[in-house]
Amino acid sequence: MSDFLIRRVPDHLSDWINTGVRQSGLSKTQFVKEALGIAYGQEHTPSLFSGCVPPVRFEPSALPFKFIDLFAGIGGFRSALTKLGGTCAFSSEWDKFSRKTYCAWFNETEEDIWGDINLLKTDADIRRNIADHDILAAGFPCQPFSLAGVSKKKSLGRAHGFEDEKQGNLFFKIAHIAKVKRPPVLFLENVKNLRSHDKGNTWHVIKTTLEDLGYVVFSEVIDACDWVPQHRERVMIVCFDKRVFGKAVPFQFPEPPKTRRPVLGDILDERYDQKYILTDHLWQYLQDYAEKHRRKGNGFGYGLVGPKDQARTLSARYHKDGSEVLIKPPRGGHRGRLDSKRSKGNPRRLTPGEAARLMGFDDDLAAFFGYEDGFPQVVSDTQAYRQFGNAVVAKVVEAVGRQIIQVMTRYLRANGNGCLIKG
Ligand SMILES: C[S@@+](CC[C@H](N)C(=O)[O-])C[C@H]1O[C@@H](n2cnc3c(N)ncnc32)[C@H](O)[C@@H]1O
Repeated sequence: MSDFLIRRVPDHLSDWINTGVRQSGLSKTQFVKEALGIAYGQEHTPSLFSGCVPPVRFEPSALPFKFIDLFAGIGGFRSALTKLGGTCAFSSEWDKFSRKTYCAWFNETEEDIWGDINLLKTDADIRRNIADHDILAAGFPCQPFSLAGVSKKKSLGRAHGFEDEKQGNLFFKIAHIAKVKRPPVLFLENVKNLRSHDKGNTWHVIKTTLEDLGYVVFSEVIDACDWVPQHRERVMIVCFDKRVFGKAVPFQFPEPPKTRRPVLGDILDERYDQKYILTDHLWQYLQDYAEKHRRKGNGFGYGLVGPKDQARTLSARYHKDGSEVLIKPPRGGHRGRLDSKRSKGNPRRLTPGEAARLMGFDDDLAAFFGYEDGFPQVVSDTQAYRQFGNAVVAKVVEAVGRQIIQVMTRYLRANGNGCLIKG
């Protein structure tokens, strides 16, 4: 004998239970089957679309759902989706420094985070290790595909893409997981040129693979500059399972916020260590390099910005010379005594804390996770810059995530599970 707690019982069943009056059109056998079906489903597939326990904290407008965080980095997806009411059911990241930050920020242990995603080789590996979830989130590395290779294999009826272990492409690992776990929603992110990469072949393969799996695919290039003081164009890909949502999914990417565009002055610190000020040697080198390229007619050079500006895209190589985002010195030069290698008029780099805020990992988001003074830095400056340069802007994920949740909410309301929605 097992005891089941049946949550979210549809009206036609609960009316019968509460009143003892048989509801029209339902036999006793159907009633028992349906009730047991709900109980069984909830015990065995604990995601939103079959019922889940809401997390302790979520915004009143948010929906309790489960997601997985692939190519997790430092958790750009995780931070935003948790804020929207999600619970992370599985994370994968193989870089030891990113894992360190991720564990510290989200109170996880090393054992909680899966390493190399390619080690999940078979359907059985995936089923055994990845919990059921509503949203599969992944900012995956962009790798080239051979369209010709895929088409040829397809026409020969041979394994292609995610069925071909040798190919080992990370996108196909996402597709493999989607095929086995069938999450209702996929939420992917990549660099802007994914759509034009390899003359459009890469995007063609990605889109048709997702469609062949039965997903309706939406994609849009979004510039984060409406949410953070940085131009950062990334393609956002949102897919809905046709079998759940149908073919006409009412999804729209978010409109930019109506508030004024953020500027660097919003995220810069008044005080900073002098180590962030460029040495005379490096500053001279960057100026000479820019001049050399200017004379050749190239646009390469440093990006010098002030508090009223927006920054260029922060890259993973920012730690090398900081050239894409150099902060002008304050009027009258940097304050305090500087060592002999630096002059008061030299520009400076962003501090790691400023780089965090430039990526949307701001004090409000940190406070949501219990940090009063911003997210803690647990790796070297070099690693921290690299991690921020690779990350997704959490505020953009949050904005797109809200739109996804609207679709999920509509679906649940229409299907009699409206009581899930709080507020
Ligand atoms: C573009 S970054 C994603 C960053 C993430 N969205 C964030 O907000 O921090 C891609 C990440 O995938 C990780 N990665 C690459 N190959 C991997 C693999 N085979 N298994 C697990 N992680 C991998 C890299 O270490 C990197 O952190």
